[in-house]
Amino acid sequence: MALERLDRIISSQGMFSRKEAGKAIRDGRVTVNGKVIKDPSEKLDPASSGIAIDGKPFAYKKHIYLMLNKPAGVLSATTDSNSKTVLDLIPKVYKRNGLFPVGRLDKDTTGLMIITDDGDFAHKVISPKYGINKHYHAVVDGKITDEIIRTFATGVKLKDGFLCAPAELKVLDNGDNPLAEVVIKEGKYHQIKRMFAAAGLKVLALRRVKIGGLSLDNNLPEGECRELSKTEESLILRTDQ
Ligand code: URA
Repeated sequence: MALERLDRIISSQGMFSRKEAGKAIRDGRVTVNGKVIKDPSEKLDPASSGIAIDGKPFAYKKHIYLMLNKPAGVLSATTDSNSKTVLDLIPKVYKRNGLFPVGRLDKDTTGLMIITDDGDFAHKVISPKYGINKHYHAVVDGKITDEIIRTFATGVKLKDGFLCAPAELKVLDNGDNPLAEVVIKEGKYHQIKRMFAAAGLKVLALRRVKIGGLSLDNNLPEGECRELSKTEESLILRTDQ
C-alpha cells in the first residue's frame, strides 16, 4: 500500500476538509499508534496506521458503498443547478470527495441506486461485459402478451433500430395496468421505457428493485441511504442472480 500524507488520509474520509485536518493535526488532536503527530505531511500507510482523533479511533475506508432508495423527482447526477440530485440526499457522515451514482435512473424512476467513490467497482456493475442483471418493476398501460414476452426474450428492436440483448419479462400482476418484472444487463438511455414503447406500451411507473444479487432493502425509506456490508457489496457483483 502506498504511503500517504496524514492530512490527506484524514480528509479523504469526508468529515474534515484538508485544511481542517491540517489544523487538527497541528493542534495535537491526532495520534498514530498512541503517539501525537503534529506534522500534517507525515507519511503513513492509511490501511494499517492506528490513527485516532481526540482519542477516538479513526476508521479508514479506501472506498465507500451506499444503498440509496431513490425517490422520484431527483436526478441521478452529482450536481445540477436546477434540480436536487441523489448526492444531495447523502448525509454528511457519508460525504466524501469523488462520490457518484453507479449508472443512471430517470428522474421519475425510483428504487435501488448504489453510490460509491470506487470507479472500478462501478464499471463492473454498469458494463454489459460483466453481465450483472438489473431488475426493474414496471407498471404499464396495456396487456402484456406472450408475444411481447417472447420478443423481450429474443431481443427487442428499439424504434431507433438498436437491438437490445435478450431480457427477461415476467408478468407479476395482469390487471388493467399490469405490473411486470424486467431483467436487463444493459443500461441504455430510457431503455425499459423504450423497450415497452417498441411493443406499443407506455411505462407508467418504474422502480429498480435489485442489482446482481442485492435487493433493495424494504426497510430503507425513500430518500434515505445506508452503507452496504461487505457481503452486500459482493452480492452486487453476482452474475447468477
Ligand atoms: N430504463 C428506463 O427506461 N429508465 C430507467 O430509469 C432505467 C431503465
